[in-house]
Amino acid sequence: MNYENQYQKYRGKNILITGGLGFIGSNLAIKLVDLGAHVMVLDSMIDTYGGNLFNIEPIREKVQVNISDMRDIFGLPYLLKNKDIIFNLAGQVSHIDSMTDPETDLAINCVSQLAFLQTAHQHNPAARIVFASTRQIYGRSKYLPVNEDHPINPTDINGINKTAGEWYHKLYHDIYGMNTVALRLTNTFGPRQLMKHSKQGFIPWFIRLLIEGKTIQLFGTGEQIRDINFVDDVVDAFLLSGIDDKAKGKVYNLGGEPISLLDLVKRMIEVNAKGEYRLVPFPEEKKKIDIGDFYGDYAKIKNELGWEPHISLTEGLTKTFDYYRKHRSHYWS
Ligand SMILES: NC(=O)c1ccc[n+]([C@@H]2O[C@H](COP(=O)([O-])OP(=O)(O)OC[C@H]3O[C@@H](n4cnc5c(N)ncnc54)[C@H](O)[C@@H]3O)[C@@H](O)[C@H]2O)c1
Repeated sequence: MNYENQYQKYRGKNILITGGLGFIGSNLAIKLVDLGAHVMVLDSMIDTYGGNLFNIEPIREKVQVNISDMRDIFGLPYLLKNKDIIFNLAGQVSHIDSMTDPETDLAINCVSQLAFLQTAHQHNPAARIVFASTRQIYGRSKYLPVNEDHPINPTDINGINKTAGEWYHKLYHDIYGMNTVALRLTNTFGPRQLMKHSKQGFIPWFIRLLIEGKTIQLFGTGEQIRDINFVDDVVDAFLLSGIDDKAKGKVYNLGGEPISLLDLVKRMIEVNAKGEYRLVPFPEEKKKIDIGDFYGDYAKIKNELGWEPHISLTEGLTKTFDYYRKHRSHYWS
């Protein structure tokens, strides 16, 4: 489905993207500039996180870049005022890091989210705010596919803090009538994702290993099921949530075709035209926070906003491999 008609509403709008130099935020910024919006990206550019100035290379002269930290509450009033729509994607995203450094995860994903909402409430209560939540908050699934009514039972610190971040957004809608929406993202892949270490998800890491001609180590039997989205589809979900009034106060799952990790790896090898994998035992620290099989039910956003994923896995992987082969030096040395 083509959403371009709906997207006309973005022309001339003032937009803030927190985490806008990261993977999903920068893809969103590029699309918004293309739609004629005035875009400001805010990002802390902490070295081990996903922010990368090269991510916005195609729109470098057309966006305002603000290098600042969400934990700095004093700068927030200036950054939030006069914005029509705020896409709130800044976050510490490594689940492993949230276990070894829980306080940083708490400060970024929980405390600063509350301060951000409180500031928006005071300085820009009418803005639409779309928050990047995660399917990680469900924990291990009690049934599949997981819909929005599934119990929340996070298996790690990051999941708990992201739950709080999401619920603050909901609360500021319920109590103060603020215009918030939360999207529970599943594993997302595509161009502009961090590749310099393996802590930001297995998909970019496997792609890097294949490009480098190294063997993928797949934990366990490889039979774990996941659903994954290509980043352009996720950008569409953000854009629809940013303009459709039905989204106000809602929480939506995203999701895609369920696939086993083994089949995903085989498809990656096919797209790369070469590569090897090996099954290895699950490392203890990862096993403890692994959520097992997961795929989400995205019927609610499909019915209410008309969103569904359109990019096939093979097409998404082809675009992703092409991007990193071309721009590898900007992502890892
Ligand atoms: N990529 C996925 O598969 C996925 C899945 C579920 C949820 N999410 C959520 O989507 C959002 C974006 O994720 P992403 O994959 O683009 O990750 P990313 O790391 O590429 O982007 C996050 C950005 O936030 C910035 N950031 C971190 N802390 C900050 C702070 N204190 N102040 C300002 N900026 C800060 C980082 O520098 C980075 O550029 C995150 O909130 C994440 O939790 C992503």
